[in-house]
Amino acid sequence: MAEKLRIDKLLAHMGRGTRSEIKKAVKSGKVSVDGKVVKDSGMIVDPSAQAVSFEGERVSYRNVVYFMLNKPAGVVSATEDNRDRTVIDLLMPEDTLLGPFPVGRLDKDTVGLLLLTNDGALAHELLSPRKHVDKTYEALVSGNVDGSDIEAFASGVTLDDGYVTMPSELVVLEVRHDADGSANDEEDAVTSLIRLTIREGKFHQVKRMFQAAGKRVLTLKRISMGPLKLDESLPEGRYRELTDEEVKLLKAHRGASRA
Ligand code: URA
Repeated sequence: MAEKLRIDKLLAHMGRGTRSEIKKAVKSGKVSVDGKVVKDSGMIVDPSAQAVSFEGERVSYRNVVYFMLNKPAGVVSATEDNRDRTVIDLLMPEDTLLGPFPVGRLDKDTVGLLLLTNDGALAHELLSPRKHVDKTYEALVSGNVDGSDIEAFASGVTLDDGYVTMPSELVVLEVRHDADGSANDEEDAVTSLIRLTIREGKFHQVKRMFQAAGKRVLTLKRISMGPLKLDESLPEGRYRELTDEEVKLLKAHRGASRA
């Protein structure tokens, strides 16, 4: 997609300074296009066809960004908040220039995969209730999650507001018995490590599904969203750009509506 824009805007977007700093840089001959020094900071350029350099270094331009964050606990999935740190506060200042925002919400105490982008169309489609994008979570849950929970989750669970969830896939990975009896709460003497895949995104959905089953979610981590899998080499609180392949997979997936 060819997009023409002012060279000072392009350089500001790519983190090379404020518009007035860039104006000064242009005046002192630090900016060139196709090898020729630029005289006018309002010059219109086509970054897909012209080579823009700043202080002798080629500046590649893009207007969309996609980041995968391994969200830590304690930050909120918002762009601004009066009280809490947000996921945007975890980004380097230069990575906030194009205005990425979180695609959907994870609770403050939930960790794991969160996509941050400024691609509004993609975000909209991934979140659309009609698209039923799979989201997979791993959770530590109080009590013994068993076959009856698996069956109930597979056929749909009635939440506290009467909503019946779509079928979901529950897998019990491990049932843990607190051998030394140190658990405070008697019910926490047995906990279950589970993996749950849901196809919708109701408020606090995973916690409310287990609440309906008489259990409590003790820790919650999202490990995938559609075709995008959490890169387990990313420590909590760290992020990276999506690879071209991951962006391609997400874009291909958005066409795949499964009503
Ligand atoms: N379900 C929840 O209960 N919390 C989340 O953060 C995500 C899904």
